[in-house]
Amino acid sequence: MIKGDTRVHSLYGSPVAHSLSPVIFNTTFEKLSLNRTYVPFEVSIDKLKDAVGAARTLGFDGFNVTMPHKTAIIEMLDRLDDGSEMIGSVNTVARTKRGLVGHNTDGEGAVRALRSYGFEPNNKRILVLGAGGAARALVHRFSRDNNKIKILNRTLDKARNLADNATGPGRISHGELDKNNLENSLHDTDLVVNSTPIRTSSLLSQLKIPFNKLKDTDWVFDLAYDKSSEPLPVGRGTISPLEMLVNQAALSYEIWLNETAPFTLMRSSLVDYLGKDWK
Ligand SMILES: NC(=O)c1ccc[n+]([C@@H]2O[C@H](COP(=O)([O-])OP(=O)(O)OC[C@H]3O[C@@H](n4cnc5c(N)ncnc54)[C@H](OP(=O)(O)O)[C@@H]3O)[C@@H](O)[C@H]2O)c1
Repeated sequence: MIKGDTRVHSLYGSPVAHSLSPVIFNTTFEKLSLNRTYVPFEVSIDKLKDAVGAARTLGFDGFNVTMPHKTAIIEMLDRLDDGSEMIGSVNTVARTKRGLVGHNTDGEGAVRALRSYGFEPNNKRILVLGAGGAARALVHRFSRDNNKIKILNRTLDKARNLADNATGPGRISHGELDKNNLENSLHDTDLVVNSTPIRTSSLLSQLKIPFNKLKDTDWVFDLAYDKSSEPLPVGRGTISPLEMLVNQAALSYEIWLNETAPFTLMRSSLVDYLGKDWK
């Protein structure tokens, strides 16, 4: 129950109506009898500054940001942790004595999800589609290890910028997300990470690439989770975006509450809500 002293967390994005984060956090808070709540707010680009001001004024106890605010929010915060500063993208904001501090849990959340399927992102060939906030987090995280990464994006400049700015031993190339580049990249890829909002199956259809071109790829990882997808003919399988969602949420929880997250409870909260496990 929300009371006079309930601590408030929130999510700022557009759209947010489809978000499953409120389910994960509110069920977990309730089951643990924590006097906290998590509220999603539809915030357009021109209202983000006001929304961050409101979080300060109203004393929100930390909040998440999602599409399309992960980069724009940076200049509205007081500090960034090292990871989010390097990535140039924030998905978690903590309220601290030193003001609002930006973090990014997407990269580590994705790696934890991949590991839970037995995929260790080291010495792998990884094809990343898209170069937005989520892609930035994942490419920076993958390039910390010895991976061969190729970024394909609709806007070539953004792919180039991401490839040029990532540090670490990972080898990175980039190109435009078009039929030739995508088709030619699929045959020597261990993992396709699709960080565009368009499903991999739809991207292939749009670019007139036959689905069976995926057969030499081991894993496909669509980050978008708002639409159900049909199974793809890949070598090993598909990584669920929901596994990443729970992992990145657990990392946000740890930043806000400064304690180990109840991961199993957070995951089962979502599984119970959906009525089925995704693995
Ligand atoms: N599962 C999870 O836990 C999780 C975590 C983070 C994000 N996500 C999901 O990942 C997706 C991307 O998030 P984001 O924050 O990276 O968004 P973003 O910063 O807005 O980036 C979107 C990217 O997708 C590309 N794109 C957009 N529409 C496209 C289209 N029609 N065809 C081809 N490319 C297109 C954009 O290309 P341009 O550069 O050309 O505009 C850009 O590279 C969202 O669906 C989000 O919900 C999921």
